[in-house]
Amino acid sequence: MRIPVDIAALGSRAAAMIEELGAISASPDNLTRLFLTPEHRRAADLVARWMSEAGLVVDEDALGTVRGGWHPAGPDAPRLLIGSHIDTVVNAGKYDGAMGVILGILAVAEIARAGLAPSYGIDVLAFGDEEGTRFPTTLSSSAAAAGIFPPASLAGVDGDGVSLREALLAYGKNPDDIPSAAYDPSKVIAYVEAHIEQGPVLEAEGEPLGVVTAIAGASRLSVTVTGEAGHAGTVPMRMRHDALPGAAEMALEVERIARADRHGMVATVGRMHVEPGSVNVIPSRVVFTVDLRSGSDDSRREALTRFEREAHRIADRRGLGVVISAFHEVATVPCYRDLQLRLRNAAADLGHRTPSLASGAGHDGQAMSKLCPVGMLFVRCRGGISHNPAEYTSPEDMGLAAAALIRFIERFQLPQLDGGPNGAQT
Ligand code: GLV
Ligand code: MN
Ligand code: MN
Repeated sequence: MRIPVDIAALGSRAAAMIEELGAISASPDNLTRLFLTPEHRRAADLVARWMSEAGLVVDEDALGTVRGGWHPAGPDAPRLLIGSHIDTVVNAGKYDGAMGVILGILAVAEIARAGLAPSYGIDVLAFGDEEGTRFPTTLSSSAAAAGIFPPASLAGVDGDGVSLREALLAYGKNPDDIPSAAYDPSKVIAYVEAHIEQGPVLEAEGEPLGVVTAIAGASRLSVTVTGEAGHAGTVPMRMRHDALPGAAEMALEVERIARADRHGMVATVGRMHVEPGSVNVIPSRVVFTVDLRSGSDDSRREALTRFEREAHRIADRRGLGVVISAFHEVATVPCYRDLQLRLRNAAADLGHRTPSLASGAGHDGQAMSKLCPVGMLFVRCRGGISHNPAEYTSPEDMGLAAAALIRFIERFQLPQLDGGPNGAQT
């Protein structure tokens, strides 16, 4: 069955939904929507309303993931999962995450309306913790859905000292219910996500859609450098144990390591907290984060070892202490080859070539790959800009991506993927 698609109508509906969701923020001046906040609640309610209007059965799991189910073959039939996230970074763009949820809802709404009756069901998922901006955890909602949520992360605290456990309780969730958020792997066919590219390749190639080959592995570290507070006017330079220049030197070392790498490694020191933080006091303690990513897990691990060695060398030379702890570690996830092909064929049905791309950005698929095969469709964004309010994807490209998802689902009549998970997951 070939469902008629109106790409312009899908695109303008997607753009209107992006604006409506993008207006839900903690700040009137920018888009900031963190996990388990009142803004998350409002966004989840809006998404739930859209899902209901699309004819989906709405449910919310113990991590706040909104699930819109379309189960024409009954609740026990295997499911195709389509989703993305509704949390954002601070001062975010409107498309990162939100677009994938919206396109999933629009595609399934069209499929349901057309009366397709496959032997499987579809769940559209709106995860709440992909960015890892509020708590030291990242991907905790998709990890719960995949059945790999680490209970120890409940103790992690946000910048105000609120633990993930406390925030879940305040959100009306019971942490004891987390195991029930996990899908039964034997009942899941695949997880598919549409996401803005967040990079410049599709724009440079003049193509609206791309197929993701793999999601780069990532490590995140918290580095605590300790020195000694002192009077900024009286302690001679040679007698100081200033934590900040030590931390700065370590940050430069991270940059040097990534620049020297030959696998496209990227490293970012995105947060630095200086104590006591006074203009006239020598810093006694600095805590900073490192985010390190590479398509090569070996080179990422080597870089971590080298950074740890260099950080201790810098600290020793300056008479400082340093403690490094890893709080996020995911290996490179290859996308399932059969899903890549099916997404490519879906776009080809619409007359589009789909460049193959690796994703440097993290995605919920990293956690979902522990549950089932994962596939991702990238959508062109202007200037490759993301994690920035200037982020933009045109209505036309979103309409095309929604149409590609519809074609993908249509072709997905047989819920058997070619090849076993290992054979095809390359
Ligand atoms: C999420 O967007 C990440 O890649 O950090
Ligand atoms: Mn994202
Ligand atoms: Mn993001």
